[in-house]
Amino acid sequence: MKFPIKRTRKYLQDYAFGPITLHTVDDFKFMAKIGRIAAETLDFIAPHVEPGISTAELDRLIHEYMTDQATIPATVGYHGYRHASCISVNHVAVHGIPSETKILKNGDIVNIDVTPRLDGPDHWHGDTSRMYMVGDNIPVKARRLIEATKKSLKAGIAAAQPGNRLGDIGIACGQVATDYGYSIATDFCGHGIGLTFHDNPEVIHVEPEDMGPILLPGMIFTIEPILNIGKPDVKTLDDGWTVVTRDRKLSAQAEHTVGITEDGLIIFTKSTTS
Ligand code: MF3
Ligand code: CO
Ligand code: CO
Repeated sequence: MKFPIKRTRKYLQDYAFGPITLHTVDDFKFMAKIGRIAAETLDFIAPHVEPGISTAELDRLIHEYMTDQATIPATVGYHGYRHASCISVNHVAVHGIPSETKILKNGDIVNIDVTPRLDGPDHWHGDTSRMYMVGDNIPVKARRLIEATKKSLKAGIAAAQPGNRLGDIGIACGQVATDYGYSIATDFCGHGIGLTFHDNPEVIHVEPEDMGPILLPGMIFTIEPILNIGKPDVKTLDDGWTVVTRDRKLSAQAEHTVGITEDGLIIFTKSTTS
């Protein structure tokens, strides 16, 4: 792996939407560390995602786990958000707010999204989410949606190769959704990440108008497609955060943080157990 020796802010000539940071080998080491903790946070919470638990209780457990690992939930205080995770149940597409009154029940499907960051000056971020099934009575259509969502993320990751264009990721993610007869919620996208939580580039999950920049070693970003069984349209509720599908049909999401290398990519948030 060859990288720039110093962190550089490289202004890509063919990219109109802002500079993209090309990170160093040392940066990648920090990202591997925080990415592993992010993945382990999602592993840790899995056995707790059971009928009868509130999403606020899950959030408390997640917060405690992150603190125990010498990390800080980057979402706390982020644009006024107050929780360690986003927990999005059934037709909630993204940014579900943990709540004492939201009790999980058998048959629910749930996305849990976490972004721990390392404590101290090297405050690198790891951002990941996955789907959980609550109990043993998951409808076939919900299982199929989760399967498609995983495949969409996987296809996006496979397309994130040095030399490809950013837009190749969107084409790959979108194709899987189309093959299943689902839509992608295009109001949300992946993002550059590192010392900053949300950075350039924007990673869209459908075929873009502009294929965007060539993927170069040192780029770090998330891929996080949201697939809807029904229409792609979503809206934000009055709480200012919770995003639901307009048709109230099921939605699912999966997210990894990845880094482009000389000869491929690293999935920083890959779980070793799931
Ligand atoms: N983790 C989310 C993402 O994938 C962002 C959550 S921001 C919050 O980008 F404030 F809603 F937590
Ligand atoms: Co993200
Ligand atoms: Co996230």
